[in-house]
Amino acid sequence: MPHIVFNSDKKVEIPFKKNGVLFNFCAKSYNFTQDSRRVEYKIGVNYDNKDFLLTLRDKDDNKMLKADKVTRVTPVSLVKDALNAYVESIDANIVFSNTNSFNNKIEPQKEYLKDIEYFVNDFKTDKEIQIEIGFGSGRHLLYQAKNNPDVQFIGLEIHTPSIEQLLKQLKIQNITNVLVVNYDARLFMEFIDSNKVGKIFVHFPVPWDKKPHRRIYSNEFIDEALRVLKIEGTLELRTDSRKYFDYCTSLLTNLNSGRIIIDINKDLEVSSKYEDRWKKQGKSIYDVVLQCQREDKKIDLKHNFSFGKIDLENFKKNITNKPMVDESFFIHIEDLFLIEEDNSALIQVTIGSFNRPLSKYIFVKDNIAHYYQGNPLPTSANIKAHERLKEILK
Ligand SMILES: C[S@@+](CC[C@H](N)C(=O)[O-])C[C@H]1O[C@@H](n2cnc3c(N)ncnc32)[C@H](O)[C@@H]1O
Repeated sequence: MPHIVFNSDKKVEIPFKKNGVLFNFCAKSYNFTQDSRRVEYKIGVNYDNKDFLLTLRDKDDNKMLKADKVTRVTPVSLVKDALNAYVESIDANIVFSNTNSFNNKIEPQKEYLKDIEYFVNDFKTDKEIQIEIGFGSGRHLLYQAKNNPDVQFIGLEIHTPSIEQLLKQLKIQNITNVLVVNYDARLFMEFIDSNKVGKIFVHFPVPWDKKPHRRIYSNEFIDEALRVLKIEGTLELRTDSRKYFDYCTSLLTNLNSGRIIIDINKDLEVSSKYEDRWKKQGKSIYDVVLQCQREDKKIDLKHNFSFGKIDLENFKKNITNKPMVDESFFIHIEDLFLIEEDNSALIQVTIGSFNRPLSKYIFVKDNIAHYYQGNPLPTSANIKAHERLKEILK
């Protein structure tokens, strides 16, 4: 996580702009929980048409400025630029920093790196879509994209150096039919229209034997995969882990909307980096392919997530950080940050379903509220949680 530790008591007058980075508000923690006495600030940033937050707090005798975990943006160089611009403008004495941008010889193809809002608001294609989850070194994805120019590929990864490497290769090999997203694959599928995807590749996922809740495959993931897949479209797992293979096979068996095909030591046209490693060690490779046999309704990505008029003073009086738990959703008010001179606030919440919790900020100014960085996805759990939040804030 990019951060800078520095020594300075100087404050800047917000709003201010430096090196194209606009710092537009600074909100201070309200500390409504009994055990929290810390002072923390959230600094609002607008840079390269993106909104995100930085966190400023004490660290021993110094201050630490870092990226806010909830409002992550890609590429990470935007956050680094913002951190550098802030610290430069107060002329601080830097104690530690990991915000030097990479010195890449080849500029990665940023036009193919998309954030999640793009998929909610702008993504359209007449081509068949194919998705690769956890593409790692990108060998399989690049091979597929080169050999299937009529297919729109989407590559999902959470490891930034792998993303940078793939973007470079797209440029070197002049490949134009891949979009890359830095996003947890378990949550991504919700943004894709029903019945549009021809193939989903999950090759050598981390087996997470000790933390099975972190696995890509779950009943919910399979259900979403079946929704986005066309009839006859496939969800393709390839793994060296017998345990993971058994686990996935048991989840996929007896689904009435799909059939499964199992193979052991099947050769593919391209071998990934992990595959090479396991083959050298003489390990078996297991494939389990789920073929979709159902058609789904279109999803509506345009749910109205407005709040109407809210009452911030009343909310402050009654605020609790005890989670509100319903059968199919929950709401947890995590924190509150106030911009007092401006009658504004940031409310940090975690909402939604238990296995896909969503962390968001709600920005409030003059008792008008909206979700910072855009609305939640219109999943049924998020919609129910939002309706309850609306009641709480009224
Ligand atoms: C073991 S590597 C396999 C990489 C590649 N598929 C191959 O065969 O060489 C697993 C990859 O999945 C990525 N990954 C793990 N969890 C993920 C998630 N929830 N969403 C997207 N990618 C994920 C990791 O960052 C890692 O690059």
